[in-house]
Amino acid sequence: MTDKKATLSVGDKSIELPVYSGTTGPDVIDVRGLVQHGLFTYDPGFVSTAACESKITYIDGDKGVLLHRGYPIEQLAEQTDYLEVCYLLLHGELPTAAESARFHDTIKNHTMLHDQMRNFFNGFRRDAHPMAIMCGVVGALSAFYHDQIDINDARQREITAHRLIAKMPTIAAWCHKYSTGQPFMYPRNDLNYAENFLHMMFGTPCEEYKPNPILAKAMDRIFILHADHEQNASTSTVRLAGSTGANPFACIASGIAALWGPAHGGANEAVLDMLEEIGDESNIDTFIAKAKDKEDPFRLMGFGHRVYKNFDPRAKVMRETAHEVLAELGLENDPMLKIAQRLEQIALEDEYFVKRKLYPNVDFYSGIILKAIGIPTSMFTVIFAMSRTIGWFSHWNEMVSGDYRIGRPRQLYNGEISRDVAK
Ligand code: SDX
Repeated sequence: MTDKKATLSVGDKSIELPVYSGTTGPDVIDVRGLVQHGLFTYDPGFVSTAACESKITYIDGDKGVLLHRGYPIEQLAEQTDYLEVCYLLLHGELPTAAESARFHDTIKNHTMLHDQMRNFFNGFRRDAHPMAIMCGVVGALSAFYHDQIDINDARQREITAHRLIAKMPTIAAWCHKYSTGQPFMYPRNDLNYAENFLHMMFGTPCEEYKPNPILAKAMDRIFILHADHEQNASTSTVRLAGSTGANPFACIASGIAALWGPAHGGANEAVLDMLEEIGDESNIDTFIAKAKDKEDPFRLMGFGHRVYKNFDPRAKVMRETAHEVLAELGLENDPMLKIAQRLEQIALEDEYFVKRKLYPNVDFYSGIILKAIGIPTSMFTVIFAMSRTIGWFSHWNEMVSGDYRIGRPRQLYNGEISRDVAK
């Protein structure tokens, strides 16, 4: 914190407000004192509002920088695995070799679900969207562990983190299996985190599933790239839910619900739907025109970002991974990839996108990889939610382990003023 001040003059009032600096990034003006002057700030969409302090993730949108506890996402994607990133986000440091081995082992031993949880899946129609199932099942975890989570006990919070990290792949894969009518596959302790997920997604009791190491590595990298992203809509939802003292499973379920929207985590599914709708490179110009037409609600899914006004660093790693996976599967000429590459090239040259600094975001290439691996588009956001659970939990944990108040925004009211009911 610094002793810098901002002076706000409103009418004949001159109001001094403290200005704080972080270790990096923009300064913030503490506007909490405005309420004493009968004033609120107004910032729908929270475009320029910091709702908290955090040490977990830093994004520089202009430079296309993403740091998790100070480490660049490109280095983490290249040199660590998802569980090491989970440890980093949760504890603030990368694990030593011994800590990493212990953490991997702990997670491995929490991957099974209480067998009664199968009943929650059976209550859904087979054609239910897997995000609806995941939202319901994760919320239901509250009923299985609610009495074992004292949010003021650091050790109980840590055990809850382990349970969530370990069980989300099982829940995600079972959402898929349920929709196919195939039997649920139990986790295997001889496989690593990403291999186990692929086993539960594609394995059957009829034969041993042998995960392709290149595809498993690509999955693990996708998990890393989606792990956390500062105060995005779903993370802010988790923080707001957590500020009431709600239990962490319910808070994570609120994050899943928020992530589902096509403007947020639902974009990866929407990208594939868009590429399929475009269908052929000859139709690209029509869709670019639609994206620019203010009268048309169509947006180029996978493009643009509230914070990044440069390339999303995750999109670059995702694009390289897409080429690796498609080469491994002999799909270098995948028509979807061709359309995506052409779309990206046109958009990066088109004045409308250049002026608005609309670059491909994390969702633009992830869907192409997941589809190539054989994952249905309806499962894309489920995988995003599974990966982001550690980010949601880390922010919830950071908040509840410090001083916090219930979140309660105000409003600009422009409805009816007081009036009497006519007798
Ligand atoms: C994620 O916040 C996070 O960190 C999210 C995320 C994470 O990891 O948690 O990074 C994950 O959600 C990535 C974003 C995925 N969503 C999409 O790909 C959907 C398509 N993108 C847009 O809906 C949009 O870009 C947003 C939602 C991502 C950002 O919206 P903003 O910041 O509110 O920007 P805006 O809507 O005010 O757009 C600014 C201008 C507008 O035009 P003008 O009014 O200035 O003329 O850019 C235009 C918009 O119409 N615009 C687009 C566009 N995105 C913005 N025009 C066409 N196609 C697009 N994709």
